[in-house]
This record gives sequence, structure tokens and C-alpha cells, in this order.
Amino acid sequence: MRKNIVAGNWKMNTTLAEGVNLAKDVNEALKGFTPNCDVVIGVPFTHLASVNAVIDATKLGLGAENCADHKSGAYTGEVSAAMVASTGATYVILGHSERRQYYGETSEILKEKVALALENNLTPIFCIGEVLEERENGSYLEVVKTQIEEALFEMSAEDFSKLILAYEPVWAIGTGKTATDDQAEEMHAFIRNVIAEKYGNEVAENTSILYGGSCKPSNAPQLFAKPNVDGGLIGGASLDAESFMGIVKAF
Ligand code: 13P
Repeated sequence: MRKNIVAGNWKMNTTLAEGVNLAKDVNEALKGFTPNCDVVIGVPFTHLASVNAVIDATKLGLGAENCADHKSGAYTGEVSAAMVASTGATYVILGHSERRQYYGETSEILKEKVALALENNLTPIFCIGEVLEERENGSYLEVVKTQIEEALFEMSAEDFSKLILAYEPVWAIGTGKTATDDQAEEMHAFIRNVIAEKYGNEVAENTSILYGGSCKPSNAPQLFAKPNVDGGLIGGASLDAESFMGIVKAF
């Protein structure tokens, strides 16, 4: 059966010292209790190796927030999937709406990133989600279906089974405006159905689909109670160990 997962996405926040302290705090909070979900933190590239050194990998997963769409070579400033893996990280967030919106990441580019992540044994947390206009004009289901099809549906069922998906409605990210539990459930059930049509029920049932967008300790229990919501990808609330743990404990 699919896993419940709460993953943090720190985005471009924290200096190295602040990040290491935050990771230590989360790691400390996980000592002595076993959550009913996997817990992951997605941190800036610069922090990966140092954070890896202070966490218990059996209790807390570590991921990057991006990786390059090329294997290696003359790509100044880029960080490859192999480099990410060499730090000890085992996850990578890919296709976040901020990457799509501000850095022009297309489905074609994302396809390469996903392939390289898998080649390096990184678990992609692949983000999809519609903008406000698409929510309001009613095209949101179709938009998300297209994002999944374009970037992921050339994969084998075996490779697709290694992914975690994260539905993040862009209008809910960092806005304080969360999707309702019913809105999230509608989309998550739809996504699972799209997967089932392509790869069959077993793959669909085993795929963890996380919700992201202004998720916090107060709304997480309702969201996570929905049958197709398998956890959260947490931005702002993951920058404070107590609020992040509050969401972990929603399971
Ligand atoms: P917030 O939780 O800050 O809305 O961010 C969500 C997100 O983008 C996680 O990837």
C-alpha cells in the first residue's frame, strides 16, 4: 500500500547554520516517537551534505529542491542528480510551480530531470497544479492531467511506481488560501484515476499523492483525512520545527 508522507520544501530560505539547526530540531523532535508517515525535508543544495551529517536517515529523509536536466559537463551553476545523490540525499522535488513559472521549466525539461533522478536512485517528488485562472475557468482537471501526461507518461510502469506526486494548486501556495479538503480530494481522486487508466489500478493505488499549498497544523488533519490525500508538501510551515511536526502529527 502507498505511504503517507509529510515533506518540507524550504525553498530559498535559511543560511547554512540556520538550516542545519532547523534540521537538528526536526531530527530531535522525531526521536522517541514513530510518526504514522514518512518525514522528508527538501533543502537548498548548499545545505545537503551538512544536513545529511546531522540527521538520522532512518527517521528523516533528505531531498534537494531541484536538479539539472543534464548529466554533467559545461552547465555553469547547475547541480546534477548525481551530485545531489552524492551528498546522501535520496529525494528530489521536481517541477515545482515556482521552477515552472520563474525558470521556464517545461514538461520536456522535466522529463529529463525525472529520468536523471531515477538513474541516480533519487525519488522524485513531482509537482503539478493549476493557476487561479484555470481553477476559475474550470479547466483545472484537464491542466493537471496534461502536466502528468506530458512529463511522465512515457515512463515504464516500473519507473512510474518510483515517483511521489504532489498536487499544489498555485493559487494556494504561500497565499494562506488552502484548497478545501473537498477540492483536494476531487483532484487527488482524479489524478489517481488518470494514473489507473494509464498504468492500471495497482500502480495508481500504490502512488502517494501529496497536497501542497498553505498546509499547516490547523488544516492538515482535515486534508489528510481524505482517502486520496496521502500527505503534504509543506513550504512556509516547514521552516519552523514545531509547526512542521504539528503537520507530521496530523497523521
Ligand atoms: P506553502 O506551504 O508555503 O504554501 O508552500 C507550498 C509549497 O509550495 C510546497 O512546495
